[in-house]
Amino acid sequence: MNYFNELKTLLDCSSAPYSGFNVASIVVTVDGKVYKGVNVESAAYPTTNCAERNALQTAITEGTKLGEIKEVHILARNAQKTLVQAYPCGSCRQVIAELSANDAMVFCYASATEIAEHSIAELLPHAFLGADL
Ligand code: THU
Repeated sequence: MNYFNELKTLLDCSSAPYSGFNVASIVVTVDGKVYKGVNVESAAYPTTNCAERNALQTAITEGTKLGEIKEVHILARNAQKTLVQAYPCGSCRQVIAELSANDAMVFCYASATEIAEHSIAELLPHAFLGADL
């Protein structure tokens, strides 16, 4: 399913007063539930939360279990208000890998029709997972 329109609307909920870089993410679970997240920046920069992890953590809050994330969709808009393709940061890749049992698909939208599609295993090879502990 294509989430471009929902992601574009969701960008307006992003709170990014410092970078001006808005990110919206929608995650889909194995049973078809959909959860949204946006980046929320902090004046103490490291306490900023990424859109992907906010969506993932909401999914967990609503009852999603480890391994049940199936898809992560991402759209970004830069400070010039141009839509741009963004890939998840390293921290988000780690969390996606853990919550999806390392088999989620990640969809990075450049526009409604140009969508880069990668497995999380491609984006985070040799992931360190809970099973390794
Ligand atoms: N950001 C995300 O929301 N997701 C990512 O995967 C990369 C970065 C946000 C964090 C910050 O608010 C802004 O983008 C610029 O780094």
